[in-house]
Amino acid sequence: MNLTPKEIVAYLDDYVISQRDAKKTIALALRTRYRRMQLDKKLQDEITPKNILMIGSTGVGKTEISRRLAKMMKVPFIKVEASKYTEVGFVGRDVESMIRDLVTNSITIVKAEQEEANQGKMDNYILNKIVEKLLPPLPESASESKKDDYQRLLEVMEKRVQSGEMDEKIIELEFDKINVEFDDSNLPPEMAKVQESFSQIFSTINKQDNKKEVTVKDAKSILKLEASQKLLDTTSINAEALRRAEDGGIIFLDEIDKIAVSEKAQGRNDPSKEGVQRDLLPIVEGSSVTTKYGVINTDHILFIAAGAFHVSKPSDLIPELQGRFPLRVELESLTEDTLYKILTQTQNSLLKQYEALLSVEGMTLTFEDEAVRAIAKLSHRANELTEDIGARRLHTVLEKILEEISFKADEYQNKTYTVTSEYVHEKLDEVVEDEDLSRYIL
Ligand SMILES: Nc1ncnc2c1ncn2[C@@H]1O[C@H](COP(=O)(O)OP(=O)(O)OP(=O)(O)O)[C@@H](O)[C@H]1O
Ligand SMILES: [Mg+2]
Repeated sequence: MNLTPKEIVAYLDDYVISQRDAKKTIALALRTRYRRMQLDKKLQDEITPKNILMIGSTGVGKTEISRRLAKMMKVPFIKVEASKYTEVGFVGRDVESMIRDLVTNSITIVKAEQEEANQGKMDNYILNKIVEKLLPPLPESASESKKDDYQRLLEVMEKRVQSGEMDEKIIELEFDKINVEFDDSNLPPEMAKVQESFSQIFSTINKQDNKKEVTVKDAKSILKLEASQKLLDTTSINAEALRRAEDGGIIFLDEIDKIAVSEKAQGRNDPSKEGVQRDLLPIVEGSSVTTKYGVINTDHILFIAAGAFHVSKPSDLIPELQGRFPLRVELESLTEDTLYKILTQTQNSLLKQYEALLSVEGMTLTFEDEAVRAIAKLSHRANELTEDIGARRLHTVLEKILEEISFKADEYQNKTYTVTSEYVHEKLDEVVEDEDLSRYIL
């Protein structure tokens, strides 16, 4: 991860329109971590990350920025909703589980790297296992000539398995262990251990049932897990994953406004929301969290929080928590022009999505530029007249415009349908200007 801030912003530009401040702040924060890692250990320890609070009304790209970052980043990164957590002691997920999720994510990254580095070995292991099933080994006592024949057969068989010729053949596989994967990030580590021993016990009891007939094709993917368990060094993977989560981990804390207690609601403060905020303090500030893979220190984990703060304000968060998010960025609300750009300039814009979907029916859908302008204009207008739901308005508006065309798509096989601005106005003018109607429909 050594993209420069400019490169990070350029990458985000492909997906998120405008919001320059937010992109810059985040890019800089990421680069700062890279810079820190180049320093000597003593100084590294002193430099703690400056957490970021992104504020912007609904549908302006907060979550989108984080989603894109998550795809791009090779560092441990998770996105969680603050509203999902409950205070320690209450039923539900406690905030420490987000650190465990981060470590799990880190493990996945490191493991994937290791698997790639050992691709050859893993492929060999899998191939041998499968060939062994298709061609049972010769007894030790076999004659030399038999052994030579066998060797030749073996090579032929290996080729056939590799080429996929044998994919449909059925073989019987034994499983070492039932691979019951619980979503156990929410379990405290002691419980996770218990659960692990349980699966071990069960797997010994069920040894004889652990045989299953599968096709060679399926076996190839099933054996991947076994190969990685057998060939990769789990201990060093875990250690490396912990280290990376500790030094480079990023947690995107979405919907943080949902745990703020607004002043208007004074007098009936929600104790559980405040509890969650208080639980967050030590984690954001830096503390040790025990995970299944070892203890992790959260000092250097970067937190990016985001919220619309419609009902509550950042100052409604408990003061200690506010202080832990020193960098504030505001996202702009979307103008007509931004909406137009979102439709035309983003990598996976909605227009492209609709065009692709309808191409499946053999229909070519195109939009006149004037039509796209009209869509942006009417969406913006609808945002002004009713609630401002940002770019999400484009979804409802487009759905309304294309509803009928989409329904009749089969009539347009091998034909081109061009959406004109007249068509857009015809479909929408009435709805947008009638406030009651648009409240329901858009
Ligand atoms: N600036 C933007 N550029 C491109 N697409 C955008 C932009 N803003 C929003 N979108 C699109 O609008 C939709 C909603 O955006 P997003 O999920 O980021 O909203 P949000 O800011 O997180 O809102 P909320 O506060 O409701 O969670 C997404 O499909 C996203 O692609
Ligand atoms: Mg969001």
